[in-house]
Amino acid sequence: MTTTADIVLRNGTLVYPDGVREGSLAIKDGKIFAIGDDAAMPPAHETLDATGMHILPGAIDAHVHFREPGYTHKEDWQTGTAAAAMGGVTTVFEMPNVSPPTAGKVELAQKHALATAKAHVDYGLYGLLGEENLANLEDLVAGGVIGFKCFMGNTFGNLPAPSTGAMLEGFEIVARHGKRISLHAETASIMARRQKHLQAAGRNDPLAHLAARPAVVAIEAVSRASILAEWTGARIHVLHISSAEELKPLREAKARGVDVTGETCPQYLLLGAEDYGRLGGRIRVNPPVREARNQGPIWDALKDGTIDMIATDHAPHVPEEKLREAIWDCDCGFPGVETQMSLMLTEVNVGRMSISDYVRWTSYNPARAWGLFPKKGILRAGADADIVLVDLRRSSMICDADLQSRAKITPWNGRAVRGVPVHTLVRGRFVMRDRKLIDDTKGWGQSVHAIQEMPPAKPRHVDQTTAAIVRPPLAAQ
Ligand code: NCD
Ligand code: ZN
Repeated sequence: MTTTADIVLRNGTLVYPDGVREGSLAIKDGKIFAIGDDAAMPPAHETLDATGMHILPGAIDAHVHFREPGYTHKEDWQTGTAAAAMGGVTTVFEMPNVSPPTAGKVELAQKHALATAKAHVDYGLYGLLGEENLANLEDLVAGGVIGFKCFMGNTFGNLPAPSTGAMLEGFEIVARHGKRISLHAETASIMARRQKHLQAAGRNDPLAHLAARPAVVAIEAVSRASILAEWTGARIHVLHISSAEELKPLREAKARGVDVTGETCPQYLLLGAEDYGRLGGRIRVNPPVREARNQGPIWDALKDGTIDMIATDHAPHVPEEKLREAIWDCDCGFPGVETQMSLMLTEVNVGRMSISDYVRWTSYNPARAWGLFPKKGILRAGADADIVLVDLRRSSMICDADLQSRAKITPWNGRAVRGVPVHTLVRGRFVMRDRKLIDDTKGWGQSVHAIQEMPPAKPRHVDQTTAAIVRPPLAAQ
């Protein structure tokens, strides 16, 4: 008896990390069942004509802030994941700087309950690696985190940056489990001093934000984190790469064999210092958008594999929090999870990258870095049917008011784009169809930590860890 598929996507252009092919794709029970010529597809309960469309594995955004619990006037799990669904993003990794921070097992369980009840797309939760919660890291692993987040710079929610000593201890613990530690790699003490001096000198203009955070903050932080990762064997990920200069310590760490991945975001590829005057508080983000001369080297680093992926740092704040008089009073960050795909497909259209590059940077590489491959991150029989159909010829305009996010203010407001996600499926179910959110998919999203399979952990210098040196000698036990 022949199997009947749930749905067949017919005659589209299937996109792989290394090329494209024309064909059809059948889905059954939430998984990709078959890929090939249309004539080879099984019968199906439903078909969708994908002629003229590109069929991509859904984007995996390794860096979003959804604000719940604690700051739901900015975003919550429903609005944030609705934004993801509309943006062609089928999995998000969400950050711990909420209130209370995701720093222990109780807070993690609370966040899992919220996300599970509300998410339209799949998700992973980051646990905090901070000065005060090192005793909780094992509990966080047991409670189901995708990885850890370490804020080396100041952040929304005022989580203090951990000392180098606490980082080393935290890395020692996490290295034993093989989970990846994502770093906000900007050094807090440098920035705090410079901001104080700038404020004392009366600088309140938007570019003062950039002046407070020269690239040396990132060079120093990437270098220091890489040294600790090399020593402990911990896996790390450098978030939101913004400068040409921090690429050097990243390249050097990779060359030394440190298991480090890198990420940049559309704002560092497409915006520059000249945009501060026009955008004011809208553009304020950490790390700052830098001089336009940084864009070329960041593009080159994506192409040569130094930077592995594009994420968004979706960091929603409402308009009144973004548009205050002094730049120092404007909250840092802006929404991005729903605009990333259109922005980057526009770059595909102008020939700056290929659609396979796009899939490699937004789906394949993140899936590999966090142990989700090949269940996610690729169009392959047996993989989760996390799929986005895009119309590369369709033009649109990004508008604040159209955003699903509660934060209806973006530096991309008014920007023309070409290339639009039209349908999004998560594990075989439409969460967006014909550019409309499917409301009743609220709660369909699942935590991906359960399917995560990291390569075996490779801790180093285990005889010299804090845990090892304070262990009493056997005879004294
Ligand atoms: C982030 C936020 O608002 O949570 N803001 C930002 O400017 N990127 C925090 C962060 O990642 O630093
Ligand atoms: Zn950050």
